[in-house]
Amino acid sequence: MSKTAVQPARKRETWNSQTAFLIAAIGSAIGLGNIWRFPGVAYSNGGGAFLIPYVVALLVIGVPILLLDYSVGHKFRGSPPLALRRITPKGELLGWFQVGVSFVIFTYYAVVLAWAARYVFYSFTEAWHGDSLNFFLTDFLQVTQAETEFSLTPVAAVTIPLVLVWILAIFITARGLTRGIAAANKVFLPLLIILFLALVIRSLFLPGAMEGLNDFFSPQWSALGDFQVWLAAVAQIFYSLSVAFGIMVTYASYLPRKANLTGAGLVAAFANSSFEILAGIGVFAALGFMAFSQGVAVGDLEGLTGPILSFVTFPQIISMMPGGALFGVLFFSSLVLAGFTSLLSLLQVVSGGIQDKFGFSPRNAALIMGIPAMVVSVALFGTQSGLNALDVVDSFINNLGVVASAVALTLLVSWMGPRLPFLRRHLNSVSSIKVPRVWEVLVGIVAPAALGFMLISAIWNYLQSGYGDFSDRYLAILGWGAVGFAIAFALIMTALPWRVNRPGEDPLDQAVHPLVGAERSRS
Ligand code: ALA
Repeated sequence: MSKTAVQPARKRETWNSQTAFLIAAIGSAIGLGNIWRFPGVAYSNGGGAFLIPYVVALLVIGVPILLLDYSVGHKFRGSPPLALRRITPKGELLGWFQVGVSFVIFTYYAVVLAWAARYVFYSFTEAWHGDSLNFFLTDFLQVTQAETEFSLTPVAAVTIPLVLVWILAIFITARGLTRGIAAANKVFLPLLIILFLALVIRSLFLPGAMEGLNDFFSPQWSALGDFQVWLAAVAQIFYSLSVAFGIMVTYASYLPRKANLTGAGLVAAFANSSFEILAGIGVFAALGFMAFSQGVAVGDLEGLTGPILSFVTFPQIISMMPGGALFGVLFFSSLVLAGFTSLLSLLQVVSGGIQDKFGFSPRNAALIMGIPAMVVSVALFGTQSGLNALDVVDSFINNLGVVASAVALTLLVSWMGPRLPFLRRHLNSVSSIKVPRVWEVLVGIVAPAALGFMLISAIWNYLQSGYGDFSDRYLAILGWGAVGFAIAFALIMTALPWRVNRPGEDPLDQAVHPLVGAERSRS
């Protein structure tokens, strides 16, 4: 082992306080997934009964993997490529794969923010004039008819806010961790909570709200016997907690050596799930009002999931209620704020990765990553075929990319390098709440088994039944292509040389972490 520690070419940034980290971690977790994904997923998977698999998935897989991410990032002080390379040289490839997955996700995540930003303004005049479906698809997105058609025609109503979202996101990331990301989260997160609470309170006072809540919370116990419901719970927890695709590894890597990791993890998970349930309450109270106004049961309403829930059903509700414009502004502003802080965390994974490897400054990293990302985002998702492209890429990258990354990570820390007992000791050496031994079983056995099964069944389903009505060619290019991009990106980035202080030396610096070497020889 060399005595002289090799550091990445630049001094790494750190959070200015544990609170700044915690706010950013909560800001990352609370995102589009909480507001538009959770209510629909919960409703279609057993309503109130869904909360049982949801809490089980949170405690058995979500929080353990969140703590795993924290321990890897904090102990090995790096974004995924550096941190995982310090565990084992082979780990770098997985690290870059996670960076590639984050890159794919943020190219379309920013687009949904751009839609929401546009709808803040549409809400003032209720621009959809009573026909929100037609308005969304035809007037706003100008969706092309054929599902397999690729269009390069940009849609100005999308590309203008999209470019603005990118400029702001690149600007904030370029300012670095404290002056950029922490400062933005400090403003956006409290503002989001205030706006969203106002929205939920308003929803609860609408006629029919209680019927909506009854429907949301009334449990269909039979759903608990359905394996798909359990898988849906695990997928929701992953998406929502932002685990297993590098975000939490990256954020935790900027913590000082003394940091209460388990305390922060539990607070972040609790805050995220509380917000999620609050979103379910707000959305279903509003749907109850819609059902009441139309004289139908909530169960007979359609369009309760994904983009349709937010961009078609909600505008309809807005048109029906007195003071709807204000309600619309609150709803879409909440989507923008929640999504923006998650977008920043996704950007930091890529920015942190290239800063660690090539020694770029935060400003240069933001530009080198942000400009190509903006171009891809506009070219693929800001055009007339953007909605279809987004649908396919989102499905494949989450069900395959994120889950594969989680399986690989749990297997890597179980079998290679210093392994789980070492990481648990690290968590316990810095945290107030101690992690019990069962964590090793959950991360090392339960998570890879459950997630491995999810991954295989997702691959099987895509191969057997494709996705939606999309042609095989379309899915090959955009769906499998998105995952293929992350793999190719990982291979290329791993092959490039590290820029370190001394030529020829490697940042697998056991000298910085002498414990790693000791632990290796013991295990
Ligand atoms: N955790 C983020 C969300 O819920 C990605 O949208």
